[in-house]
Amino acid sequence: MIRSVIAGCGGYLPARIVHNDELAAKVDTSDEWIVERTGIRQRHVAADGEMTSDLARVAAERALADAGATADEIDLIVLATATPDQTFPATAARVQAQLGIRRGAAFDIQAVCTGFIYALAIADNFIKAGQSRAALVIGAETFSRILDWEDRTTCVLFGDGAGAVVLRAAEGQGRNTDRGVLSTHLHADGRQHDLLYVDGGPSSTQTTGHLRMLGKEVFRHAVVNLAAVVGEALKANDLTAADIDWLVPHQANKRILDGTARKLGLSPEKIVVTVDRHGNTSAASVPLALAEAKADGRIRPGQLLLLEAMGGGFTWGSALVRL
Ligand code: ACO
Repeated sequence: MIRSVIAGCGGYLPARIVHNDELAAKVDTSDEWIVERTGIRQRHVAADGEMTSDLARVAAERALADAGATADEIDLIVLATATPDQTFPATAARVQAQLGIRRGAAFDIQAVCTGFIYALAIADNFIKAGQSRAALVIGAETFSRILDWEDRTTCVLFGDGAGAVVLRAAEGQGRNTDRGVLSTHLHADGRQHDLLYVDGGPSSTQTTGHLRMLGKEVFRHAVVNLAAVVGEALKANDLTAADIDWLVPHQANKRILDGTARKLGLSPEKIVVTVDRHGNTSAASVPLALAEAKADGRIRPGQLLLLEAMGGGFTWGSALVRL
């Protein structure tokens, strides 16, 4: 039985760090409010001319190095982003060219903050179907480009970054003790469009637009949907929360992370938290958190990881992985 195994992880954050105080000098907010309501202390912002593909390429190179893989091994690139370099071609195709890869498929997928979970599910299914042997799965965003920097209710929440994993085909027995992606669960509810969206686009306004969010409403749905999708993953694999070594959640708000952990009865030490330093990097947040915790030795081979995210659409999903 073929299954996909995470062979390597990599992350990249732009050099420029913006602290809360810098934002408080521009809009009516404060470090105290932002930390108390979100847990965010700083975020990284891409330099002028630095594009989503530039962030994605570095994260991909680091994931390849971590996997001990070469670019010519890769036959699939799935890149999750809501902030592509251009409307088309896909940012994945640009990254493919930059990495010197000349074969296989490369495409973008769009599920906003759930993008990486969707991308991982797609690549996992390509591998299980025998259509790919080694895939790069990337989440990369430059949300700084779509923020309304005069809107204090949104501009303090987001940051730029990229994370990537190399997925390789491996033989498994189909047991939850085997290494690899054990399950993925994806959901969408398009009725919630107006709670979180960008007010522009090529087909509607012919502009890029800005992010708009009713934060309190999104928060309410996030806690319910994330708890449900986590329960769904555990049940499908005949596991309990006590079996999880690490929760690697989408990093939107520290209070959402704490709420999900409480619902699961998971101790806070088992949650990878980066939101304090990265802000919400949308599709990049889960692979960035994964790369950071693997690089610093917290996450170790053989451990059971539960990845989850929720974003615009609404979309939400989970992936259960044994590293
Ligand atoms: N600084 C100071 N005050 C602020 C700020 C700010 N940056 N932003 C809002 N306020 C004010 C509001 O105007 C409001 O004032 P009012 O009472 O006079 O009207 C007050 O603070 C409370 O605002 P709320 O929106 O009720 O604050 P809340 O505690 O809900 O926190 C937040 C807002 C942080 C946005 C929270 O709701 C949240 O994290 N929501 C979830 C976001 C999320 O999960 N997104 C995930 C998906 S992201 C994606 O897919 C792209």
